[in-house]
Amino acid sequence: MKILIIGSGGREHALVQAVSQSSQVSQVYCAPGNDGMKADCELVPIQVDDLQGLLEFAKSQKIDLTIVGPELPLTMGVVDLFQDNGLRIFGPTKDSSQLEASKAYTKDFCQKYNLPTAAYETFTDYDSASQYVQQKNEFPIVIKADGLAGGKGVIIAESLQQAEDTLSEMFLSHKFGDAGGKVVVEEFLTGEELSFIVVADGENYVEFLSSQDHKAALDGDKGPNTGGMGAYAPAPLIDESLRQKILAQIIDPTLQAMRSEGHPYTGFLYAGLMITKSGEPLLLEYNCRLGDPETQVLLPMLKSDLVDLLQAALDKKLSTYKPQFHSGAAVCVVMASPGYPGKYEKGLPIQGLNQAQSIESVNVFHAGTKFQDGQYLTNGGRVLTVSSQASTLQGAIDAAYKGVDCIKWSGIHFRRDIGQKGINRLNQK
Ligand code: AMP
Ligand code: GLY
Repeated sequence: MKILIIGSGGREHALVQAVSQSSQVSQVYCAPGNDGMKADCELVPIQVDDLQGLLEFAKSQKIDLTIVGPELPLTMGVVDLFQDNGLRIFGPTKDSSQLEASKAYTKDFCQKYNLPTAAYETFTDYDSASQYVQQKNEFPIVIKADGLAGGKGVIIAESLQQAEDTLSEMFLSHKFGDAGGKVVVEEFLTGEELSFIVVADGENYVEFLSSQDHKAALDGDKGPNTGGMGAYAPAPLIDESLRQKILAQIIDPTLQAMRSEGHPYTGFLYAGLMITKSGEPLLLEYNCRLGDPETQVLLPMLKSDLVDLLQAALDKKLSTYKPQFHSGAAVCVVMASPGYPGKYEKGLPIQGLNQAQSIESVNVFHAGTKFQDGQYLTNGGRVLTVSSQASTLQGAIDAAYKGVDCIKWSGIHFRRDIGQKGINRLNQK
């Protein structure tokens, strides 16, 4: 089989490696990919939003299966376009990916189908939003740009001043472009976050292991929110009773509701959850794709053939498909450019990649790297993900950081406490 992966980050590098392991696969392409993936696949210089270009490539190369990494092409309708042209592609349609594309749509959807989530109001102008925040006068309060904002559209305002400044940036200075024309203001939830990802075939679904991302830039969950600074799986936070609650209160009703809406959901569905102190799951957001960096731990933990799994989903056969997982745990640490998630420099030489990669069980997934004049340079905010698997969570943490400690560039930035929350949980048990 010939497979095309759409995207260019660490998630897509993990997808490339996972499908390459399938005995059915003879050739893997990634559009546009990144230089660090060259050893594992053929790069195709087509951007993720060039849907026509992607279609023409898939047709001309007779691609058997396309897998979509990021949300943008999904929300633009790449799945609809490929399907209309008789091509096999895994991901939700444009209508189904509204679950990620519009926060207002999702909140209304949650209300309509009684899904547990934070209380909210939606606004389309500065004055009413500002008046609402003043009246509420409870901080922190969460302000979300409605549309896609590259992970930067959620602001947790600690004070009235910050809330008003944020609303002003969204409505008056148009800092988030069209994404900020509509704004959701919601209650601040407390607890521990959990990423719960399933593969759905429109009717049935199978679960990946649970995982936890680390969204804040700095140790101890301090600093600004990022795309994610590291992850581990499985998350000891989840036990059988919480898993059953998540399935019964969130996953099952969501997929049922999508069918009722006339948009049966096929694809990866990622529920970003807040688990309250009393153990109740509340929905923070849906993503219509795999998480990054969650994928860099979830796919290495998947023992089953990923291509088989996705083929079963496309053939609507998940009711009888039982995915197998490795035992133990996986951890990944994101290594970022100095300044990330703010402004950052590019082109810094990276040292120690081979040394890290040579450690048994350590795998380096490339995201923002570029190969030039015989060496790798930084070329993005999140540069690499160093991932490892072991029989215990502590073992996986230790091995991942052994890999991390080999890699250097000027001003390198990463968290030292990835997985620590899981260790704390295990110690409490
Ligand atoms: P979202 O894009 O909606 O997942 O939001 C990004 C991040 O903002 C989440 O992963 C949480 O860390 C945080 N967040 C979003 N909504 C809330 C909320 N209502 N209460 C507390 N934190 C939130
Ligand atoms: N890890 C968070 C995300 O992929 O949105």
